[in-house]
Amino acid sequence: MIFVTGGAGFIGANFVLNWLRKNNEPVLNIDKLTYAGNLNNLQSVEGHANYHFARVDICDQNAIEELFKKHQPRAILNFAAESHVDRSIHGPRDFVQTNIVGTFSLLQAALGYWRELSEPEKNNFRFLHVSTDEVYGSLELNDPAFSETTPYAPNSPYSASKAASDHLVRAYHHTYGLPVLTTNCSNNYGPLQFPEKLIPIVIHNALNGKNLPIYGDGSNIRDWLYVVDHCEAIELVLEKGRKGETYNIGGWNEKKNLEVVDTICATLDELCPRPDGKSYQTQKVFVADRPGHDKRYAIDATKIEKELGWRPKENFESGLKKTIAWYLENEAWVKNITSGAYREWLDKNYGARQ
Ligand code: NAD
Ligand code: TYD
Repeated sequence: MIFVTGGAGFIGANFVLNWLRKNNEPVLNIDKLTYAGNLNNLQSVEGHANYHFARVDICDQNAIEELFKKHQPRAILNFAAESHVDRSIHGPRDFVQTNIVGTFSLLQAALGYWRELSEPEKNNFRFLHVSTDEVYGSLELNDPAFSETTPYAPNSPYSASKAASDHLVRAYHHTYGLPVLTTNCSNNYGPLQFPEKLIPIVIHNALNGKNLPIYGDGSNIRDWLYVVDHCEAIELVLEKGRKGETYNIGGWNEKKNLEVVDTICATLDELCPRPDGKSYQTQKVFVADRPGHDKRYAIDATKIEKELGWRPKENFESGLKKTIAWYLENEAWVKNITSGAYREWLDKNYGARQ
């Protein structure tokens, strides 16, 4: 069996669904079910013989230890995190708690379990930590892309908390020999993403006749990767990655935010034209910038390509079309999420920006 933490969130759920499609090995999804965790994401595998769920906070070391004892997994993959930069600006405490203390608790529980394993089991065991390119800080336009040796320089409470967790994971390998792997990935997009991140909020707002909020002048650059490509890369790192190593994962696909929003508008104009015949472009609004907004992220994914033979399969146009088609077909999923608590978040984040 493998453990997946945060499996009810965006990337974790895509990972679990992809895993169960391809593998005949049980998975235990360990998730606290915060605002970002949604069991509807996993409805299609609810009765699957290889799918199991435990509602547990990763900060609860005793509960995690019990799960290790009971299920004897060969690996744990840590997706659980507070993941949204804007929320980390409004309320950093949860980020320190889950991302740092939570990862520490998982490492402690995993170490205790790993030490009791037989030698062959010890050799096979893996602690795979899912992280972000944001730990490397911000690039200028002409800087080379982030590689695995780029020094850490996190700028937001989110990226600082992820950086701290990466350091703990590294230290548990260096000090105790725990067989860890770390992946640092660029911005993901695809089905099941909570409509607070750029791509799903723009799709959602466009379809509901609302403003498409662009921070600053829209010139910030991100590298975008289709979520299933990320999941496949993680699976490959789990099976073939070298212990103690980190792997950067990216889409070779840098785009200005404005370009992303324009492409979404053009795709929606084609797939779901507005009744008045106007373009969704007319809904674009430039709003106050994010404090400390990182200018550019870019990933050099040469190492994972050379060592493990991974490259993304989806390009931005095809991935975005699939994503938009998914949101159009799954309005009920979005409706279910955009309840009272969601609206409070919109007021908090966007109210002051107009
Ligand atoms: P998400 O916010 O959609 O999901 C996070 C999940 O973790 C939710 O199911 C939530 O309930 C769960 N969770 C939160 N706190 C928990 C706790 N204390 N105990 C147990 N479960 C808890 O996040 P995501 O976008 O799916 O990101 C998953 C991971 O990938 C994160 O570690 C994130 O830092 C990393 N990552 C994300 C991106 C991206 O573009 N979304 C890019 C690179 C890396
Ligand atoms: P986001 O999806 O929050 O990911 P991250 O901050 O982790 O990269 O944002 C992606 C980019 O889009 C980032 O430069 C901020 C910008 N952005 C907007 O312009 N408007 C929005 O409403 C949001 C949520 C983000």
